[in-house]
Amino acid sequence: MGGFGAELRRHFTLLAFGLLVASIVPQFAAAACPDIPVAVAGPMTGDWAVYGEEMRRGAQLATDDINAKGGIKGCKLALMVLDDQGKPDTAIAIAKAFGRDRVRFVVGHYNSGSSIPASQIYAKNNTLMVSPASTNPGLTEFKLWNVIRTAGRDDVQGTFAGKYMVDHFANGNLAIVSDGTPYGDGLANKARNALRAKGHPEKLATKVKYDQTDFGDLIAKMKAAKIDVVFFAGLGDQLGRLIRQDDDAGMHLQFISGDGAMVKGLTALGGPAVQGTLIVFSPEDRSNPAAKDVVTRFRAQGFEPEAYTLKSYAAVQVIAAGMEMAGVQAPRLVAAAIRSGKPISTVVGDLTFDAKGDRREPDVAMYVWTKQANGGLSLEPVK
Ligand code: ALA
Repeated sequence: MGGFGAELRRHFTLLAFGLLVASIVPQFAAAACPDIPVAVAGPMTGDWAVYGEEMRRGAQLATDDINAKGGIKGCKLALMVLDDQGKPDTAIAIAKAFGRDRVRFVVGHYNSGSSIPASQIYAKNNTLMVSPASTNPGLTEFKLWNVIRTAGRDDVQGTFAGKYMVDHFANGNLAIVSDGTPYGDGLANKARNALRAKGHPEKLATKVKYDQTDFGDLIAKMKAAKIDVVFFAGLGDQLGRLIRQDDDAGMHLQFISGDGAMVKGLTALGGPAVQGTLIVFSPEDRSNPAAKDVVTRFRAQGFEPEAYTLKSYAAVQVIAAGMEMAGVQAPRLVAAAIRSGKPISTVVGDLTFDAKGDRREPDVAMYVWTKQANGGLSLEPVK
């Protein structure tokens, strides 16, 4: 439990003394049914806590809504929240602890760099995971029995971003920058392949460290290479700082980034220079008619359910639907039911999953940070 924070320890205490003393039974009990533990695990603290909050709030409201309707065949879900700090080592420790404590259903993780190693441990420990956010293709390409995702994939969004760059900035010098994580490297490679396939390779490909905050060297390199357009494969906190530092240096580069930079706090970090920044993400979940009621209730809580919130809500719905379809709580049978290709109704629409646990529906769209009449910036779909 070495690097775990106080909150994490508190949740493990709960695991030990409360929720899990009633051990999971593979069948739905006819009479009294013990709660079914479901964990949501992601970065609840640190620079990426904004994403963890989306996951936690989405999973919590879904759990509450399912329980308010009587649970699953009379069994209630009991949600616990775990902070992996966005760190692979912490995610691995959580996955091992779940194995001992018999948590069999996980909504998580957020970072592909955490989800991928954790998934291997979950597979051995009879645990099913549904990630609302991890987009690296490797997560499902290992073909484990236990992985599902309500997020899209980086081969789709990276290829889309690469083509977009060539189609819209035909005369520009292009750069690809990765944050050096499995997510960043995978996404950068896909974008780079798309540039090359369209005969307009990047002039500069480089990496930063995932926790770097000073981009002076990178900006100097881009200046020397006369870069016009940068694809940044990393998360929103770094993109925001990079945009501000680029602006301070008088460069005014055109930035494009992926789902990990889909965050309203981008303007707080990046300032007015965020205007014009392009972001690849999925089609807006909040506009889905199936999400209308839930979006209204999130807003009534004073919370705007952006980015991964509704994908996290949907992840709990997918787990619940899998149990309903399988008629048992055995994770392998639940996973097989989810992957059977039968549509599952969720707040992000009807989802069908393939044999690897990926969504079959196409899931990519471009957005641009746009100046509004009141002078503020908002992210709008590119028409
Ligand atoms: N999509 C990002 C990842 O996979 C959050 O790490």
